[in-house]
Amino acid sequence: MTIQFDKHRDFLVRQAEPFNGGPPLSLLRADFVTPNALFFVRNHAAVPEVDAADYRLEIDGAVRKPLRLSLAELHRRFPRRELTATLQCAGNRRLELMAVAPIPGELPWGSEAVSTAHWAGVRLADVLAAAQPQPSAKHVAFTALDECERHGHRFGFGGSIPLAKALAPEVLLADEMNGEALPPTHGAPLRAVVPGYIGARSVKWLERITLQERPSSNYFQAKAYRLFPPHVTAQNVNWDQGLMLGELPVNAILCHPNPDDTLASGTVHARGVAMAGGGRRVERVDLSSDGGRAWTPAELDADDGPWTWRFFHGAVEVSRGKREIVARAWDSAAQTQPEHPAQVWNFKGYMNNAWARVRVLAR
Ligand code: MTE
Repeated sequence: MTIQFDKHRDFLVRQAEPFNGGPPLSLLRADFVTPNALFFVRNHAAVPEVDAADYRLEIDGAVRKPLRLSLAELHRRFPRRELTATLQCAGNRRLELMAVAPIPGELPWGSEAVSTAHWAGVRLADVLAAAQPQPSAKHVAFTALDECERHGHRFGFGGSIPLAKALAPEVLLADEMNGEALPPTHGAPLRAVVPGYIGARSVKWLERITLQERPSSNYFQAKAYRLFPPHVTAQNVNWDQGLMLGELPVNAILCHPNPDDTLASGTVHARGVAMAGGGRRVERVDLSSDGGRAWTPAELDADDGPWTWRFFHGAVEVSRGKREIVARAWDSAAQTQPEHPAQVWNFKGYMNNAWARVRVLAR
């Protein structure tokens, strides 16, 4: 198999064109900060080739001073900021929802659409301050240079975040990822990084930032990345009634043992990662070795703050037979995860945060 976009040879490719994939479970938690070669990729169209020398970022809409900035101007005018942040796709863990009922036309993500990087660039808030938002500005819409095609229309990927989030210090316009220039498939030369929100709002290959009264009317905000209740289907959907997705819910992934492992009965060391959304923190993770009847608290590694995942591990006693190891996390808003994917099934397959389960055979 050819290696695309400098990815690791074990990178799990879910789709070749457009390129989509992520780290295999065995490597997801190998490093707290995911190497660029393993960081998951979610593309809706081909990776555009953008010449950094000709690149200009436009800031327009409800601003007193529209801006048109080269990368050099961006660097000269605004202080450099860095942040370690986890990105997670709203479609992460869709495969488990697909096991409940079919979700045609969407990518069958396992648990690999999540990764953590050290980002560097400028604060979106600093750029917006220079553009001077007008009082009518309530949302900040991003438009990108890639060419998506949906229902016969070609357009750049886009989406928006509320102005209050855009002004928060954690939101960056990043041109560097893990100490390297932002790789082409991750949005070179410039992308938004919106920690705590679904990955779709971290728009790559950023062309334009528009301040406006309403959320973006881009397909990926107005139709896709909306949440519908389980009774709504592609046949009876009223698109306007979907909830626009923003903050992520608390979630957990078990990285060890591997699904369908055969292991020795007795003490098993489980390991995984947990994420909280919207600036909340991971406060607690419980583990079970009997499908969720009895629980024992997992050990949490150091808390790196609200924008990154938290590693957990713990010993569970596994008796002989087919067993299910389960993890569930709690966040700082005392929220936890639902027991079954069926409870959160939706026809687009977003926001699955049901208990993490791994079936093993213990001998
Ligand atoms: N930006 C553009 N321009 N085009 C895209 O297809 N995908 C979004 C977001 N930004 C996308 C985009 C989605 S759904 C996710 S989850 C993240 O990018 C993934 O970022 P990554 O590919 O760097 O992991």
